Amino acid sequence: MSIKLGSLVVGMATYVPGLRSLTGRKTGGTVSARYCYSVWLRHLSVLHGSALPTEFERAAELGPGDSLGIGLAAMLSGTEHYLALDAVRYANNSLNLQIFEELIGLFRAQAPIPDDAEFPLVQPSLPSYAFPADVLTSARLDAALSPKRLELIRASIRNPATTARADAPICYIAPWEPGVIRDATVDLVLSQSVLEYPRDLAGIYAEMCRWLKPGGVMSHEIDFKSMGLTTEWNGHWSCSDAVWRLAAGRRRNRVNREPHSTHIALIEKMGCRIVRDQRIMRPSGITRAQLAPRFHFLVDDDLTTSSALIQAVKPA
Ligand SMILES: C[S@@+](CC[C@H](N)C(=O)[O-])C[C@H]1O[C@@H](n2cnc3c(N)ncnc32)[C@H](O)[C@@H]1O
Repeated sequence: MSIKLGSLVVGMATYVPGLRSLTGRKTGGTVSARYCYSVWLRHLSVLHGSALPTEFERAAELGPGDSLGIGLAAMLSGTEHYLALDAVRYANNSLNLQIFEELIGLFRAQAPIPDDAEFPLVQPSLPSYAFPADVLTSARLDAALSPKRLELIRASIRNPATTARADAPICYIAPWEPGVIRDATVDLVLSQSVLEYPRDLAGIYAEMCRWLKPGGVMSHEIDFKSMGLTTEWNGHWSCSDAVWRLAAGRRRNRVNREPHSTHIALIEKMGCRIVRDQRIMRPSGITRAQLAPRFHFLVDDDLTTSSALIQAVKPA
């Protein structure tokens, strides 16, 4: 069997009242300013490489996790309004403020993008980790880092809006519900290691496409691995629903097991045009014969795609 015994034990324990809340108490990455800086500049650099816009009036992030640092990095690159939507309220004002100050230092120094040596598990990887001075020019940075603007952002970090008010620099809604953002009001929707979790992926993609203005872009880094619950990286596709229910249990963050082709199909179905599909390929740990019946629809590429950065544009 592909499921690890330890995963089964933990998964089953989450059904015991009170124990579920012990899972997913932290999300990991965004506790570090350098991680947030790296993730934001990786998305921005690839957008630039895809000839997509890199300046945004309003950016929305799905699943910021422990801090709003990725969106704060977007604001320090000139984004005027940042909407953070999470399923769980992980971030707090004091960590957000601390990360903001560290990010200011990194942008002022035009520090190189922290690379695979520092963050070996972070995707997308880039051909160069030099500071993207061609995108974030001195003029753009001077305007974004003006003392008056920084004070305005600090004030908003101390007191973020909890509804998507048009005038608020920062809005943090967690948990969020469909309908919280008005149609065609957002220029960029971004997520990092998030879309492998929501159950209602079709609903989430419909929402995100609805938020985008015509010409707006989305940039999502998605991990398709089993998150260590199985012995093979893609062993989750060999598990029956019953076994998976026991192993994943009621963990706060359970992967939805949707493969790469599902994401591509949903984005296209919503009428967005895929501009970049940067995949990490890995030999499959299972054969087609081992696929659980409900995963027979996987195409061969799904079996070997362990993560992808997908960027798409909503037609103007
Ligand atoms: C692995 S963490 C990633 C956090 C952060 N983006 C990072 O790079 O470290 C996954 C995040 O996705 C969030 N998430 C899961 N389902 C979500 C949903 N339906 N809507 C918004 N956020 C969701 C979780 O609450 C968590 O914050």
